[in-house]
Amino acid sequence: MARCFVTRSLPGTAVDRLAAEHEVEVWPDRLPPSPDALRERLAGGVEGLLCMLTDPVGADLIAAAPDLRAVSTYAVGTDNIDLAAAAERGIPVGHTPDVLTETSADLALALMLAVMRRIPAGDAEVRAGEWLTWEPARLLGHDLHRATVGIVGLGRIGQAVKRRVEGFGARVVHSGRTDGMPVEQLLEEADVVTLHCPLTDATRGLIDEAALRRMGPDAYLVNTARGPVVDTDALRRALEEGWIAGAALDVTDPEPLPADHPLLSAPNLVVAPHLGSASHETRAEMADIAVDNLLAGLAGTPLPHRAN
Ligand code: GLV
Ligand code: GLV
Repeated sequence: MARCFVTRSLPGTAVDRLAAEHEVEVWPDRLPPSPDALRERLAGGVEGLLCMLTDPVGADLIAAAPDLRAVSTYAVGTDNIDLAAAAERGIPVGHTPDVLTETSADLALALMLAVMRRIPAGDAEVRAGEWLTWEPARLLGHDLHRATVGIVGLGRIGQAVKRRVEGFGARVVHSGRTDGMPVEQLLEEADVVTLHCPLTDATRGLIDEAALRRMGPDAYLVNTARGPVVDTDALRRALEEGWIAGAALDVTDPEPLPADHPLLSAPNLVVAPHLGSASHETRAEMADIAVDNLLAGLAGTPLPHRAN
């Protein structure tokens, strides 16, 4: 029986399976535990950590956790965790790939179509009493079926997005770490640039001022990867000054984006609060996998999905 800390209450009943075998504390609040609260738990004998993408698990925290034996994150992305520092201590880190691939790709398409066909802007007009009549030239967008979609990062989610946009009739180009075209060329060719790369030293700030200026006034940016892949201030200027036609974001930098953040005053912007994997079905399956990973790590057996 090991001491486990789960940093948020998860949907479904997966955590009950963990609690059947181990001593489990679940952080009860809507907001994540503060860094101090997390450190206190880990310094105080926690052996198994089930964390969220909102919990920074750096080398210093791992060093301050003498009894930690297994980490499981309720996400596919692991940029919040120092995987190497955990590996050095022999601590396996589990994550939840595959199960969220199709759900995340659906969200990317929903955002792409929302900004290209101006659905949030239209919805706002209806609610504001500005739907006066059918108009020939109001709220015009651009067609996905005529577009060239540039996928940055053709991994699991990138490939699922490729299948979807090809189904819409769009042409696809891509840029990967080791394949596809250079990002500069993709930015020039694509009418829609959609990001599906992990956040690494190589991708942090990838979409900066120079990148946005390459895109062109009819091009859209969709970010469902990680906020810091895009330079927020450069994006704000790109929207305000019309370097690009619009942007749809499921992730931001900072995240969460405060309601009074200057980016939100920019035109042609759709923002969702990091909903990529947020379907009932997928979040329940992610909880099962996260619990399976932690149970395996604590039992000293191979994790179903290990990230380090
Ligand atoms: C969501 O962003 C995830 O990494 O699972
Ligand atoms: C969003 O729907 C916009 O076009 O502003």
